Order: sequence, then structure tokens, then C-alpha cells
Amino acid sequence: MDGTFNENDISHIVSADKAHVWHHLSQHKPYETTDPRIIVEGKGMRVWDQRGKEHLDAVSGGVWTVNVGYGRESIANAVRDQLIKLNYFAGSAGSIPGAIFSEKLIDKMPGMSRVYFCNSGSEANEKAFKMVRQIAHAKFGGKKHKVLYRDRDYHGTTIGCLSAGGQDERNAQYGPFAPGFVRVPHCLEYRRHEQDGAPVENYGVWAADQIEKVILAEGPDTVGALCLEPVTAGGGVITPPQGYWERVQEICRKYDILLHIDEVVCGLGRTGTWFGYQNYGIQPDMVTMAKGVASGYAAIACLVTTEEVFDKFKDNADDPLNYFRDISTFGGCTAGPAAAIENMRIIEDEKLLDNTLAMGARMMDNLAALMDKHKVIGDVRGKGLFCGAELVADRESREPVNEKLAAAVVADCMAQGVVIGVTNRSLPGKNNTLCFSPALIATADDIDHITDAVDGALGRVFG
Ligand SMILES: Cc1ncc(COP(=O)(O)O)c(C=O)c1O
Repeated sequence: MDGTFNENDISHIVSADKAHVWHHLSQHKPYETTDPRIIVEGKGMRVWDQRGKEHLDAVSGGVWTVNVGYGRESIANAVRDQLIKLNYFAGSAGSIPGAIFSEKLIDKMPGMSRVYFCNSGSEANEKAFKMVRQIAHAKFGGKKHKVLYRDRDYHGTTIGCLSAGGQDERNAQYGPFAPGFVRVPHCLEYRRHEQDGAPVENYGVWAADQIEKVILAEGPDTVGALCLEPVTAGGGVITPPQGYWERVQEICRKYDILLHIDEVVCGLGRTGTWFGYQNYGIQPDMVTMAKGVASGYAAIACLVTTEEVFDKFKDNADDPLNYFRDISTFGGCTAGPAAAIENMRIIEDEKLLDNTLAMGARMMDNLAALMDKHKVIGDVRGKGLFCGAELVADRESREPVNEKLAAAVVADCMAQGVVIGVTNRSLPGKNNTLCFSPALIATADDIDHITDAVDGALGRVFG
């Protein structure tokens, strides 16, 4: 290679990758004898690998990110124009795209007020945890610093976020974790038989009440925030049960606990509303978002707070510590908000929220039909274009299928040219939920194509 890229022969790319690239979340042993997949190009809902094989992407870039689909020239152009004008200045100063995007974003989030820019979902969540601790020190003598997080939820990859991580397999071998993070039970109704005392009636209220129990056991004056995913993603696509969120909000208000909603997956459109929490009529104090903010066209994450939270960081300006003493170098990159403005315009102009609702309903109908046909599907769950199908060895006992079989379904779909996902090294013995999160531009044909592939795969793997 001389620096030019020959599209007809990327064997050098494959060997350079095999020799030097450490892939995310991957066991590399198999790559000693096989080639890793290299994704070369994308357009709309489809991507092509190094062999030129076309794939329909049912997981928006693998991890629910490319919400407006691949190959959007208007986003690329917006980023290019901005980079030429000004690529970067530290976030201690403002920027034109930062101000414009903040205004547009807050317009979609009634009750919210301030946008803090950074680069990844993990980083945005870390910022929120730092704010909780700083408020505790400034206002409560350091006491009200604990962050509650939920079993099965995931908030990111850093040690701080793993300390708030409800997925034991993701956490394994990375401890010891930071103190001050306390787990509350999950709200997956399908697995309520595994939870002591869980009722058949009013499960949602019961599940929320378990949070109150933890608060009382810890002492409400020690708990600063409750951090939850609106719909749990990697922990099994868990849609909240009836009555859950209303009660959660009540509990937070009762004990003066900040409600931090992690919208890293649901954020910007995935559930058919701008944000997942907006399906449930709740008013958070802090919201974090990343993946769908610019659909992966640039790295951007945001922590959005109410004005009330923001005020706590300027209400005693004589105190040299009385502001959020935090910086994210690349939070000052202007490519992120420039891409995010155009990403939001596309969602609005192409009415992608409506499409998400319509195509999400179709996907749920198709999955329900698959459930009638394949007894290995024990439960289907979803909100908008964010769906899951839990595979069980036995419908009566709800015993999860061996995760190698769930992985075999994913591999079979891949062989058919359809990329689907599965809960991945999240929960010991419970990586058994197939995940679907196609781009918000999906058509009825795309949805049927995806579920047809799953139908074929289930037939072959489970007979
Ligand atoms: C709900 C949730 N929060 C946070 C994160 C972490 O985001 P990032 O990988 O951008 O750090 C993820 C990533 O999958 C996520 O699913």
C-alpha cells in the first residue's frame, strides 16, 4: 500500500486489522484462523463488508446508534462546513453550533434547561454522578451522595459507570468499584418469579416500591440520585411495567432524590418520542444522551439538567469551588453539535418519529406472530423501534436458552445478510434476548425482511 486505497483489494486492510486492531467486546482467538468482519460502506439501512456482501442492519450500527441511517450527505456537509469555519475551541467558551443545538434540544425537552457537552454516554453519566456528589458536598455536608442504580441497567464502561452497573457479567473482574453506588431490583415482569414476593397484580408499583425499600434501608438523607434507563437496553430490552414510572417519580420527590434518566439508547427518537422518558409522563432532573444524538456521524454526548440543578452550581459565586469544575476536551469539538443539528432536522422533516411508531408496531406484530410459531420465544417486548425477543428453553419454567443457541440465531441471520443483536456478556446465564433496533427510516419491507430472517434462523437452530 502506498497510502491510496484500492477498493478491489483490501487484503492489506484485513491483515493490518488482524495484526494491530483490538476490536471492542471481542474474543480475538478465532481471528487467528478466520478474518474479522470489516465494514466498508453504508447506505440507508444497509452496510457492505470487505467481501462486498450486503447486510440489512437491524441494530443501527451494532449498538443502536445510526438512527437516521447511513450515507447522509447533508450531515457530512454540515460537519465539513463547520470544521472549516471552526473545528474546536475548549467548552469553557461557547460555539455557534453548540448554542443552536442546545436551543433546539431544550425545545424538545419541556422542563429541562441546560446542556453540558461531552463525548460518550459513559462520560455524560460520569458528569451526572460528579454533579450529585458536588451537590451533596455543597448542600448536605457530603452525606446525600449515593447514587442508586438498577439491576440489569448499564450506564457505561468506565470504573465509575461500572460501579453503577447492574450487569454482573459486564462488571466481572473489573472491581473493586467506587463506593456510594447502591443497587435496586429490576422491573422485568417476565422474570418476576425470580423476585421474592413479587405479585401478579400491580407488579409495576411493587417493583417501584422496592426502590423505596432500598432508600429507607440506606437512609434517605444519604441518597442523592436515582439513575435509570427509561427502557433497559443491553440488559434485555425491558419495557417498564404499568404504574412503575409514576411511583418512581413520587418516591424521588418524597425523598428529595434527583431523577437521572439515561437516554443513551432511547435518546432521539428510538421509542417514537424524542426521549424514552416522554412516554411515561415523568419529569427528570438530569438526562444523559449520546448514541442517537448525531447518529454516529460525530462523537457527541450531552448531560441535560433542569435550571434548578444548574442553579446549585452558581448560587454562591464567592466560593471558589461553587461551579462545576469539570471539562471534557473533546466536548469542545464543534463537529458534534453541527452533526446533531442536521440529525434532528432529518428526524423532523422526514417525520421519523411517526415512522418509528408505525414500523415499531409492525415489528411487534411480526415478533408476536413468530412467538405463536416458535415456542422458544418466551416473551417479546418493545417500544418504537426498540424491540427484544427473549428465548427460553421451556415456556413454563422460563429457563433461558443456552446462550450459545441465542448466538447461533444471530450467526444464522448474519449468514442471511441480516445483522441482529443479542444481549452480550451482560447477565450470567441470561444473555438470551434477541435485540432489534433498526434505523428510524426502516420500511415495512425492511421490517418483514428482518423478522423473516429470524423466522428462518429459529427454524434451523431449534428445529
Ligand atoms: C444505556 C446506556 N448508557 C450508557 C452507555 C455508554 O455509552 P458509551 O458507550 O457511549 O460510553 C450505553 C452503551 O451502550 C448504554 O447502552
